[in-house]
Amino acid sequence: MYRTHTCGELRIQNAGETVTLSGWVQKIRSLGAMTFIDLRDRYGITQLVIEEHSPADVKETAGKLGREFVIQATGKVTERSAKNNKIATGEIEIIVTGLQILSSSEVPPFTIEDNSDGGDELRMRYRFLDLRRNPLKNAMILRHKMAKEIRNYLDSLNFLEIETPYLIKSTPEGARDFIVPSRMNPGEFYALPQSPQTFKQLLMVSGYDRYFQIVRCFRDEDLRADRQPEFTQIDCEMSFVERDDVLETFEGLVKHLFKRVKGIDFSENFPRITYAEAMERYGCDKPDLRFGMHICNVTDETKGRNFVVFDSAEYIGAICAEGCAGYTRKQLDALTEFVKRPQIGAKGMVYIKCEEDGSYKSSVDKFYSADDLAKIAQKTGAKPGDLVLLLSGDKKKTLGALCELRLEMGNQLGLRDNNQYAPLWVIDFPLLEWDEETGRYFAMHHPFTSPKMEDMPLFETDPGKVRADAYDLVINGVEVGGGSIRIHNSEVQQQMFKNLGFTPEEAEKQFGFLINAFKYGAPPHGGIAFGFDRWCSIFGGTESIRDYIAFPKNNSGRDTMIDSPSKVAPEQLKELSISVNE
Ligand code: AMO
Repeated sequence: MYRTHTCGELRIQNAGETVTLSGWVQKIRSLGAMTFIDLRDRYGITQLVIEEHSPADVKETAGKLGREFVIQATGKVTERSAKNNKIATGEIEIIVTGLQILSSSEVPPFTIEDNSDGGDELRMRYRFLDLRRNPLKNAMILRHKMAKEIRNYLDSLNFLEIETPYLIKSTPEGARDFIVPSRMNPGEFYALPQSPQTFKQLLMVSGYDRYFQIVRCFRDEDLRADRQPEFTQIDCEMSFVERDDVLETFEGLVKHLFKRVKGIDFSENFPRITYAEAMERYGCDKPDLRFGMHICNVTDETKGRNFVVFDSAEYIGAICAEGCAGYTRKQLDALTEFVKRPQIGAKGMVYIKCEEDGSYKSSVDKFYSADDLAKIAQKTGAKPGDLVLLLSGDKKKTLGALCELRLEMGNQLGLRDNNQYAPLWVIDFPLLEWDEETGRYFAMHHPFTSPKMEDMPLFETDPGKVRADAYDLVINGVEVGGGSIRIHNSEVQQQMFKNLGFTPEEAEKQFGFLINAFKYGAPPHGGIAFGFDRWCSIFGGTESIRDYIAFPKNNSGRDTMIDSPSKVAPEQLKELSISVNE
């Protein structure tokens, strides 16, 4: 028997028992004739003690040990004289009577500690070692707990977990596909699913009215902290539902997880904000509602004072940063540099300081009287002591820049506390998005999203104005999930394809299987998919979803541990009828 207990299990009540433990050597300390070993496994750390009078073979083996050796130790559980209240087993230690090396270890390339000395790249290459560290271990445990609670909740509501294939045909989520050559069908390729979207809709046609799947999805897109090329969705679909049925069911899931995993009760309904309102007030469709600082449209209040920058702008917007009137020149310059960064793209920034004495100081004093400044400041709700920041330009871009500026001020003012959660639904997205470059509409969610019934009259005549029966779940400024009510009527679907610029032949070629299935009794249906990795990272309180994926890719889409992607043998390519253009 390798072990009678784990390294996190023994307590003072076990004193006197003879036990056997197996694990990794975390630390070895010698104090005179005594040797102390911290033995670690997934469950914790137990202190082993080798004394002057310990058996000779034990002392000899102890002398050979190094960090991360795997050992087995037998001994007596004894009350410690110097207790360690930082660990659960801190009241006891094991006086070792038998010691064996099960596996030796080279010196690890970084320390297996909560704050490791290893850089990102090194830890990615030795991910199997990094996973031994507590922060990653706790992330894996959190992920497991969440998956379990998701299954419990959905099972209790009669959802069936059904798997769908990975070797499929292109799916319509808007990213690039990863493709897989078919040896048996030379010159032909499978695509890996960007989501199981079409399959879950087919399952509705098959009568499985409540489906879910915790499923891997693949998207070849530029990577960021919250994006991986393969990531996991909690993918769900329901039949005979309208939007509010879906939102209520899954708000229930979100609340269940908050309660079971974080111990947080949300008794109130989550706020619902329309896309249009989210854009006007927060500058983006995933507002962080942990703090206010709404964007105010001050276009009317700022135009016509001969300040060319504002006079020539389509839109001027402002936010009010509470208590920041004391910002120094240097701080304001840094903010200006922040908004001028290429990813944000503002040309400059104007400020109004609302001084404690009721006066105003501004970077555009020359053009605006005290009265003018007061009017602008009042529109944003500013009080004495506050700082108003203004950006101007093209409306869409300026709102985007104000969104970033608002988040930055939220950070600077400590208003984005990771232990506070602000979930909301964003609803009524536009159905279509116009793309200047290609001169055509794209589906904002995907081509199966239903228009809102009240907007149907515009569907053929002015499709750009049509809103979708689509929704996103946002928590703390992160899009955690998105879904919609689907089109289940062939004619509406045909018109949608037409609006998206597909000819009937193209639509048939890409989605013929779905169009065909819908001819055989498609129930009204809708659903949602949550980004499981993102949800884990929000619950775990760190920004990068990588921490919640056992073996993630780096920002260039590489797994440096297994060295993938990599070249394949010429014979393998030949078998696949592929030649590579070097
Ligand atoms: P959508 O494309 O919005 O919807 O994806 C759903 C959720 O998946 C997460 N997500 C990602 N997470 C990590 N890395 C990525 N590259 C990535 N891309 C998306 C996000 C997102 O909200 N089929 C539809 C769902 C539906 O309509 O039911 C879909 O896939 O959290």
